Amino acid sequence: MDKPKVVLGVSGGIAAYKACELLRRLTESGHDVRVVPTASALNFVGAATWSALSGNPVSTEVWNDVHEVPHVRIGQHADLVVVAPATADTLARAAHGLADDLLTNTLLTARCPVVFAPAMHTEMWEHPATRENVATLRRRGAVVVEPAVGRLTGVDTGKGRLPDPGEIFEVCRRVLARGTAAPDLGGLHVVVSAGGTREPLDPVRFLGNRSSGKQGYALARTAAARGARVTLVEANTGLPDPAGVDVVHVGTAVQLREAVLKAAAEADAVVMAAAVADFRPAEYATGKIKKKDGVEAPAVTLVRNPDILAEISADRARTGQVVVGFAAETDDVLANGRDKLRRKGCDLLVVNEVGERRTFGSEENEAVVLAADGAETPVPHGPKEALADIVWDLVEARVDRAGR
Ligand code: CTP
Repeated sequence: MDKPKVVLGVSGGIAAYKACELLRRLTESGHDVRVVPTASALNFVGAATWSALSGNPVSTEVWNDVHEVPHVRIGQHADLVVVAPATADTLARAAHGLADDLLTNTLLTARCPVVFAPAMHTEMWEHPATRENVATLRRRGAVVVEPAVGRLTGVDTGKGRLPDPGEIFEVCRRVLARGTAAPDLGGLHVVVSAGGTREPLDPVRFLGNRSSGKQGYALARTAAARGARVTLVEANTGLPDPAGVDVVHVGTAVQLREAVLKAAAEADAVVMAAAVADFRPAEYATGKIKKKDGVEAPAVTLVRNPDILAEISADRARTGQVVVGFAAETDDVLANGRDKLRRKGCDLLVVNEVGERRTFGSEENEAVVLAADGAETPVPHGPKEALADIVWDLVEARVDRAGR
């Protein structure tokens, strides 16, 4: 069988050296990789390195090897194009369809999935021009990976760091396995809740939980990458807003309910990944609760919070709306999951087994997705993005586009 053909575009940023590691992973896992650097990328890593590591010729211009018409052929024959690092300039040229070097020509002739892994200074990433270019590329079906937060070129830190080459490799593998980065959720509006609610006792204290919000963010990011309009209702994650996603920030379960119900009124699917507190303090002290010598510790009385998942499942804002819940179980995972699916009335329930191998805060997840129609989809241990993609596959198969 032919090896899958991958084009690795490299643009001119300091992170170009990290693309060597991505290249090595791709070649070692059986991919035929053709590196297409921009001219400025060669200021960071030379053509000899790319050529030696890939075992293929390297050129930056359309004028080299003209008899082979590489500017057309490389893109046409690729199974995947990944650009890492993608600078602000390369994203802009790609978004505007320029064809002024071999990489941009390749991007225009490629009919395969395209992945961009941006790396740049925080200001450049946050600039409205870059945001719009990213949104354009995503709308057209490219996967634009969120940059990581951390140390940048100099002493500065912030968002804009190239994600770990291993992470980019995983994204490439998933996209190649799906065979598409097509915007199959295009035209759909989805709502995702993420994080954990905080129920205040007084101005400085709250009852909370350990949900990191990472699974919800992975759902939002993958849905946006697959072309959906995404509203992310976020509670206390402290995570930066994903590009191309509308984010509503809330604190408590009551606020989360209000924001989710508002967004759900127009939505094709609602995924409740947030850890919503089942109870809140019955009373809120407007001043800080003080300890007093000789006085007993105060008792906290709790009252039930509304069950948002059950409510939106019972009262669908539109016909054919798909509602997805999450459940964490320690024992009798499947039996408890099935029971919860029935009680909540949702269409899909993602059941995580929690316990010693905890899921909270980690980058990975393992689950089984139960469907109201009886289907069971086991999701092996893997990145939260992989679980997110499976959830969207199942949602996509159930969403009623005709009823919209
Ligand atoms: N959920 C909700 N509103 C709540 C509580 C939970 O919408 N007040 C949603 C969560 O977002 C999640 C699912 O319901 O999708 C989790 O259900 P829940 O009954 O809270 O599960 P557990 O916490 O596992 O509850 P228990 O084991 O107590 O039944």
